[in-house]
Amino acid sequence: MLTAEDKKLIQQIWEKVAGHQDAFGAEALERMFITYPQTKTYFPHFDLHHGSDQICGHGKKVAGALGTAVKSLDNLSQALSELSNLHAYNLRVDPVNFKLLSQCFQVVLASHLGKDYTPEVHAAFDKFLSAVAAVLAEKYR
Ligand code: HEM
Repeated sequence: MLTAEDKKLIQQIWEKVAGHQDAFGAEALERMFITYPQTKTYFPHFDLHHGSDQICGHGKKVAGALGTAVKSLDNLSQALSELSNLHAYNLRVDPVNFKLLSQCFQVVLASHLGKDYTPEVHAAFDKFLSAVAAVLAEKYR
């Protein structure tokens, strides 16, 4: 459960992400592919070289979805419903992978936002990404 304080911190830190959103998304994906190479199996149709158009394009989509989620903290399930259907029914991404991408996204935030990424923000953002992952995984059975 996100507290009112968590929500405030998440919204504040996302304002600092603005302007870098697409690049942060792409960097998180690259980190995921390099650190957890098994995740590449879901993207056989992508050029996974550093800075490829597909990584950049997909980073933009993923970060855009997170931006939508930040705007919908009180109704994540509804806001991400289509994405949840896509990952569960079409893509069949094993939910363990959501944690891997979440972790990579947090490394990106920590390395670019520096002292703004305080332990309190880290804790709130971790809860946020877990909540997003839970929604993306809720249609699996
Ligand atoms: C597609 C978001 C995690 C694999 C997408 C799309 C978005 C998205 C916005 C594009 C949907 C569209 O085109 O309509 C997210 C978010 C995640 C997440 C917010 C977690 C925070 C993952 C993970 C994997 C994955 C962990 C696998 C390791 C895919 C694949 C596609 C996709 C294979 C289709 C790519 C394509 O062919 O264009 N995701 N995703 N996603 N996602 Fe995720």
